[in-house]
Amino acid sequence: MNILLAGGAGYIGSHTAVELLNSDHDIVVVDNYSNSDPSVIDRIKEITKKDFKSYEADIRDKKNLEKIFKENKIDGVIHFAGLKAVGESTKMPLAYYRNNIDTTLTLLEVMEEFKVNKFIFSSSATVYGEENKVPYGEDMPRGKATSPYGWTKIMMEQILEDAARANTDLSVIILRYFNPIGAHKSHLIGELPSGIPNNLMPYVTQVAIGKLPKLTIYGGDYDTPDGTCRRDYIHVVDLARAHVMAVEYAKDKKGVDIFNVGTGSPYSVLDIVKAFEKANGLKINYEIGDRRAGDLQDSWADVQKIEKVLGFKTQYDLVDMCKDSWEWEKNIKNISL
Ligand code: NAD
Ligand code: UD1
Repeated sequence: MNILLAGGAGYIGSHTAVELLNSDHDIVVVDNYSNSDPSVIDRIKEITKKDFKSYEADIRDKKNLEKIFKENKIDGVIHFAGLKAVGESTKMPLAYYRNNIDTTLTLLEVMEEFKVNKFIFSSSATVYGEENKVPYGEDMPRGKATSPYGWTKIMMEQILEDAARANTDLSVIILRYFNPIGAHKSHLIGELPSGIPNNLMPYVTQVAIGKLPKLTIYGGDYDTPDGTCRRDYIHVVDLARAHVMAVEYAKDKKGVDIFNVGTGSPYSVLDIVKAFEKANGLKINYEIGDRRAGDLQDSWADVQKIEKVLGFKTQYDLVDMCKDSWEWEKNIKNISL
């Protein structure tokens, strides 16, 4: 199939591009590079030894998007293009609602115009909110988000469900990502946070390399075995592979399907720090600080549905996640940006 990757130059999009190309799908990448670098396109080509078309464009620019759909025979869309910094979204809520919801609406409108009916959406574990109990199952009701970013995901899931109800030819696959970390084994692509990272793993790697002096662990008094929060970390290449399986599943499907994409195994913040130290033979300077507002104590997935329906199984463990995150961090300086 020929899949348009909206936001395909970003962290998860670039890894998915590699996995799709390696599975003999064709891709077209559309990105405005607001949170990525155009050089990633060449690095995807270098890893896969395959060529594809890419466009620098804002997904919200409908005329331009129509032109792209006219120039390419698109079979399906994966929508990664969004703003994703939780803290920033509380300061710039309108920018988050405008970008995240407009990109989704514009894609759906243009897809309808060109009779493209396969849509895969990057959602987040954040939609479970505070109300549900771990492990989160797809049939639980969406909760209340703790940030405008989270609300955009909840709203977009609702929009997609309504769109699929009205257009019965539409196939929507909502992938609720848990915590992706790691990088491609080539260490040519990975996560490139702008400014000081908000997320745990890029913070750890930047402390390890000396860009940041110390990691603050947000809270040591949670009701968990070591007092720190637990999350479901998944290797980004496994997450990317789930998209390939979703594309193949969408071929013969209509309506909406929701899948958690995680490992189902929770690790605490301290587990991650210790695993990173052990995997890479390093010491991380850290202290236990106050809790971070909006953090949940626990978040992990029930992965039975994705295992059963898509046949998805993760291939990489926590050691891979820690090693690949570190190798990528060390390689960033060698990559011309
Ligand atoms: P990312 O920022 O690395 O990638 C997003 C890409 O979209 C970037 O390349 C950016 O330039 C592009 N983009 C943003 N707005 C655009 C627009 N209007 N037009 C064209 N391009 C645009 O983020 P990521 O980590 O790869 O996340 C991808 C998706 O997955 C996002 O929707 C994010 O909310 C969701 N998600 C991410 C995580 C995570 O931990 N990384 C977790 C859950 C969900
Ligand atoms: C966060 C977002 C979530 C989003 C996801 C991916 C919040 C409340 N949640 O998830 O909506 O989908 O990122 O972008 O922001 N930690 C530290 N020190 C740090 C950084 C993190 O102790 O410097 C801890 C956190 O408290 C948390 C764990 O590490 O317990 C993971 O944090 P993070 O990587 O930010 O992911 P989430 O909070 O799970």
